[in-house]
Amino acid sequence: MSKQISGFSKFTKEEKINWLSKNYFIHKEQGIKTLNSYLNSDEKLQDLHDDFIENTISNFYFPYAVAPNFVINGKDYTIPMVTEESSVVAAAALVAKFWSTRGGFKTTVISTTKIGQVHFMFNGNSNELEAYFIAIKSELFKVTESITKNMRKRGGGILDIELRNKTNDLKDYYQLHITFETMDSMGANFINSCLETIANRFKKDGINIVMSILSNYVPDCLVRAEVSCKVENLYKENAKHYAQNFVNALNIANVEPHRAVTHNKGIMNGIDSVVIATGNDFRAVEAGVHAYAARSGTYKSLSNAKIEDGVFSFWIEIPLALGTVGGLTKLHPLAKLSLEVLQNPSAKELMQVVACVGLAQNFAALRALTTTGIQKGHMKMHLGNIIKQLGATKEETAYLLDYFANKTVSHSDVVAEFEKNRK
Ligand code: MEV
Repeated sequence: MSKQISGFSKFTKEEKINWLSKNYFIHKEQGIKTLNSYLNSDEKLQDLHDDFIENTISNFYFPYAVAPNFVINGKDYTIPMVTEESSVVAAAALVAKFWSTRGGFKTTVISTTKIGQVHFMFNGNSNELEAYFIAIKSELFKVTESITKNMRKRGGGILDIELRNKTNDLKDYYQLHITFETMDSMGANFINSCLETIANRFKKDGINIVMSILSNYVPDCLVRAEVSCKVENLYKENAKHYAQNFVNALNIANVEPHRAVTHNKGIMNGIDSVVIATGNDFRAVEAGVHAYAARSGTYKSLSNAKIEDGVFSFWIEIPLALGTVGGLTKLHPLAKLSLEVLQNPSAKELMQVVACVGLAQNFAALRALTTTGIQKGHMKMHLGNIIKQLGATKEETAYLLDYFANKTVSHSDVVAEFEKNRK
């Protein structure tokens, strides 16, 4: 039986759910009940969420947590995080506390510009195109004036428009490569509106525009975060040995892409969670970060570490296009609250906070990996989830937590002990 449907978006929420239930749910009533149980009883709030996207039928919850005790450039932060991965917030909080007594995190924003491009095809004389571009360039700034007015007032706008000849890569391919400063907004809408206006002006003169879009590759929207302390203050025992292995782990991630991807994934565990909590676009951040990690032609670590004169330093440089105004940042009540918890940062300050959480996450992972291994901590956090899945009672939960307190946790061991205890 075909499951094709037309006019679905016009259905009411209830009609959509009923259609879904009829066509896909195995336990129809239960499916509907689950969807409805995740709807918010506050109608206004639910309407707000319904309108974020098309065809909303419910809400999908992720835990919203905070990691306190971050000290960044001498200022205290409690950092909101949204993630489903059990150990991420615990690790961030632990590492924040650790570095708070060792000078905290130091950060610098290296650059803040973003790029948008108008891609077009032209099969005439390239010198003539260049002359045409030079003649029209100031007009391209002019046609966007009404869009850039407010941004210019805030200190941003279009910084430069370049004509780039890409015909060596692709026959007839040229682009306008445009540099933007978008201040406290991530700037996607602003950039795309400017680009389309510029492209329309170009089109008037018969140029074949292919597309106009911002680039999520933002190597010039870069932030650095670092921590450092004496090697002997890093570990309770065998500090020299463990610190050297920590650096070895970084060096491995710099020469071995299989490791680098996992290494950077750990960093993104932290980064994404704050990016989501503040209503920013984590897909844009992910795309830009991984492209940056591969900028040399080999995919490498985003972080680095060294030991010099008995001092251990660990740092990250990462491109982050973030906003603290616009988009969902003020529209989603929790994103707005996250920014409040962060003491209403500028986009630049948010870049610094996010980079620190990435570095903290990476520190936690590498410290565990090069000492006790990762599974001990992970499985401890996972234990609670397994117990819940088993539908354990309060007493059974207490028993299992106690039983596994000093044991290695595995899914099968927990199930076996749960069943044994229940009998
Ligand atoms: C798991 O989500 C992240 C780690 O694999 C990161 C790493 O290996 O560095 C632990």
